[in-house]
Amino acid sequence: MAQRLTINGDVFELYLSEHQIQERVRELAYQINNDYVGKVPIFIGVLNGAFIFLADLIREITVDCEIDFFKLSSYGDAKISSGQVRLLKDLNCQVKGRDIIVVEDIIDSGLSISYIKQLIEREHPASLRIVSLLLKKGLPKIDFTIDYVGFEIPPDFVIGYGLDYAQKVRNLRQIYKLVPQSTEQ
Ligand code: IMP
Ligand code: MG
Repeated sequence: MAQRLTINGDVFELYLSEHQIQERVRELAYQINNDYVGKVPIFIGVLNGAFIFLADLIREITVDCEIDFFKLSSYGDAKISSGQVRLLKDLNCQVKGRDIIVVEDIIDSGLSISYIKQLIEREHPASLRIVSLLLKKGLPKIDFTIDYVGFEIPPDFVIGYGLDYAQKVRNLRQIYKLVPQSTEQ
């Protein structure tokens, strides 16, 4: 497993190994399994970034469950958020009266998750919880709790395990973080 990667001239260093990620995913699933005994939650993945996390997570889920997806666009090909969220694909399932678990890869500014929360609450679910593999520290813009968090991380740009850099490197099994220019060797 490479300790460092260079992509488009930017240097990334290994941050979370495959083993660390898989272990944490199992722990999150364990909590969710306990919390949803006797229920049939709908896991709603936020495309594209969450597809790998969702796939790993639900294979550890032991309660009956359903899956659906939103597709949002906010980053384009940049490393910082455009500050705008667009809905590119809506849900197909009926949310009303159901137990919903939104699955995110990462929460950065909180803009996307706030937008999704609003969309879902409009449809009157029985309950709504959020699971995010990563949560960037110092989160400014949300006034609600993220119910299940895999890892709290510094506000650096990260890639791999579903997270892209200009649509690439989603297929990495590990998560890498951008090395700030000043500390590059
Ligand atoms: P937010 O709306 O700023 O919270 O950003 C949420 C979305 O932006 C995430 O679901 C990701 O798809 C993407 N994103 C945020 N931070 C990163 C990052 O460090 N690397 C890659 N994608 C990111
Ligand atoms: Mg995302």
